[in-house]
Amino acid sequence: MRIAVTGGAGYIGSHTCTLLLAAGHDVLIIDNFNNSKSDVLDRIEKVAGVRPRINQTDITQADALSAVFSDYRPDAVLHFAGLKAVGEAVENPLEYYRVNVGGSVSLFQAMENVGCNKIVFSSSATVYGDPDQVPIVENHPLRPTNPYGQSKRYVEKILEDWGQANSNLAAVNLRYFNPFGAHPTALLGENPQGIPNNLMPYVAQVATGQAAELLVFGDDYDTPDGTGVRDYIHVMDLAAAHLKALDLTVRKAGVKAINVGTGNGYSVMQMINAFKRASNREIPYRVVDRRPGDIAECVADPSFAFELLGWKSELGLERMCADAWSYQNSLK
Ligand code: NAD
Ligand code: UFG
Repeated sequence: MRIAVTGGAGYIGSHTCTLLLAAGHDVLIIDNFNNSKSDVLDRIEKVAGVRPRINQTDITQADALSAVFSDYRPDAVLHFAGLKAVGEAVENPLEYYRVNVGGSVSLFQAMENVGCNKIVFSSSATVYGDPDQVPIVENHPLRPTNPYGQSKRYVEKILEDWGQANSNLAAVNLRYFNPFGAHPTALLGENPQGIPNNLMPYVAQVATGQAAELLVFGDDYDTPDGTGVRDYIHVMDLAAAHLKALDLTVRKAGVKAINVGTGNGYSVMQMINAFKRASNREIPYRVVDRRPGDIAECVADPSFAFELLGWKSELGLERMCADAWSYQNSLK
């Protein structure tokens, strides 16, 4: 198939592109390199043996995007492009809605113009907000607590409405839990610019000595050791879920939301210890106050993904930490 991959130069998109190319798809990455670098294309090529096409377009530029679609005429779209920092979204909600919602609408319009009606969208577990119970099932109420989460919810809703109007639309909203890890070759991984927002990229920087200590945001949650519990998923497992979701769009029209997690929750302390084992380094940490807006626990019920896509996670915590550590070392 001819697949347009928005944000394909980013962390999750680049790993997914290696699998798409290896499966024989023709891949066009559409990315403005706002949060990635063009050398990722060489790395994808090294891993997959095929170079993806690239078009450096901003998804919010509707006319330019439509021109790319008229030229490429994709069979399907994987839509990763967007902004993803929760704190930044709280400070600058309009920019988040402009890019994440406005950019998505431009994209859907460009798809409609060329009769492309298959899409897999990068949604997030953040659409659930503070869950009533864990593990979380897909029909849990959606009550995101910040503009980033709202932007994901709105795009899911726009796809639902588009699906009401167009019975040929096949859309899958993949609700990612906490992606972590890197490509086993250490050629691809997550390399955030500036101070990392998320736990594990920060832990990796503490392990190398780039950061002095980790701040643990609260140890008084109602969890076994008091620190926050999350469902960490290997980025290669997540990438594999996209190919299964793409298969679903070929088999069936309709709009679906699917959790992509492992079903296993680990606390901040468990993650620190797992990374210590993988890296054989000390991870100094200090417990501080809770981070505003954080929740105690967020763990997926992944059974719908297995039922609908035949997908389940295969790579465990040790592997996530080992691959992330190899990648971190490759950056030196
Ligand atoms: P990333 O920042 O590494 O990748 C996003 C890519 O989109 C980057 O290459 C960036 O340059 C590109 N981009 C941003 N704005 C663009 C624009 N206007 N036009 C064209 N390209 C643009 O992020 P990621 O971690 O790979 O996340 C991919 C998607 O998954 C995002 O939509 C994110 O919200 C979602 N998601 C990520 C996580 C996570 O923890 N990483 C969790 C849940 C959902
Ligand atoms: N944490 C720390 N110290 C840090 C960073 C995080 O103790 O320096 C803790 C948090 O309090 C939380 C856990 O580590 O308990 C995980 O925090 P992350 O920031 O890594 O992940 P979140 O679950 O808070 O949020 C992430 C993404 C969101 C996404 C959500 C669900 O940042 O964008 O996962 O997919 F929506």
